[in-house]
Amino acid sequence: MTTPISVDVALRTLGEELARGLDLIAAAVSVAELEAAEVAALGRKSRFSSVQRALGSLTEEDRRKVGQRTNEVRNAFRAALAARRAELDAGREARLLEADRIDVTLPGRRLRPGSLHPLTIVQYEIVDIFTRMGYRVVEGPEVETEWYNFDALNFASDHPARTLMDTIYLDVPGESGLLLRTHTSPMQIRTMEAQPPPVHVVVPGRVYRNEEITAKNMPVFHQVEGLAVDEGIAFSDLKGTVETFYRALLGPEREVRLTPSFFPFVEPGAQVDVSCFMCGGKGCRTCAFSGWIETMGAGMVHPKVLQNVGYDPERYTGFAFGGGYDRLAMIRFGIPDIRLLWESDVRFLEQFQAAG
Ligand code: DAH
Repeated sequence: MTTPISVDVALRTLGEELARGLDLIAAAVSVAELEAAEVAALGRKSRFSSVQRALGSLTEEDRRKVGQRTNEVRNAFRAALAARRAELDAGREARLLEADRIDVTLPGRRLRPGSLHPLTIVQYEIVDIFTRMGYRVVEGPEVETEWYNFDALNFASDHPARTLMDTIYLDVPGESGLLLRTHTSPMQIRTMEAQPPPVHVVVPGRVYRNEEITAKNMPVFHQVEGLAVDEGIAFSDLKGTVETFYRALLGPEREVRLTPSFFPFVEPGAQVDVSCFMCGGKGCRTCAFSGWIETMGAGMVHPKVLQNVGYDPERYTGFAFGGGYDRLAMIRFGIPDIRLLWESDVRFLEQFQAAG
């Protein structure tokens, strides 16, 4: 049964229903409410449906008018329903995701920065001081020939250091006179051979001697060599240079003492002592209660050595110095046993930091 209606009533009803339905749809906060709104707007018992059912009672012209309006209203409902459903779905999804959330963040994996080996720290400091004074840094081969390690440096052929006691000779088929350098001094020769004066170089590096391994000695250790050759270089330049060096390295209060010593490649030769940087020179266990620490050998380059590299000893003079820095690093960092420097134990190595 349908109730006949007039066009005016039909159009007004559709307008009212459209507004009411859209409000219901917009107000729905759940899928169930949205479904209820759909039934209220378009369901069989809705006023919209009754208008639709009454269409047949209208004249053809009126029916077209009202029919078109019902289509518009239905389309508007469908569009609003679809939009609201999408909104509710998105919200539900977000709530589900939120409820399902698992915290998968772990504490970040910290990259452990490496640290410099204590010997490297000391070596860099030494080399820095000399480069600031205008020296160039060079390195040389650890496998040397007898010529560079001894002869060119004016060692007599019967010098005791040549014997197997100290020097590790290499047994290489087809080669003779190969050895592991016992000091960095051969780089004096190699440097001068490679360039004319003036020369200002420092040479850090490993050296080898046939010694037993103890808490204080290793058959491999480190030296730094220095060489300055030019016109008019005097012994006082040597003293000033080593003093400047040790004050920069170990503190401005350090004193330097030069005492006579012998090395075949220098004349005069000297032993360089620095006032103890642990006790300030008063005397302690580190300096064997003498107030001084023996640090290196030095001297004025022997004229024979200059001749051996083709430098004119009448015109050029120079000084050289060289000594180990393993002991310096040990005193500086309080390392009790030299073997620790070779064990590559990270727990040991990570403790050291360059000063300032
Ligand atoms: N090469 C020497 C050594 O290992 C140290 C040395 C002494 C180096 C005197 C020098 C120097 O440059 O002039 O015992």
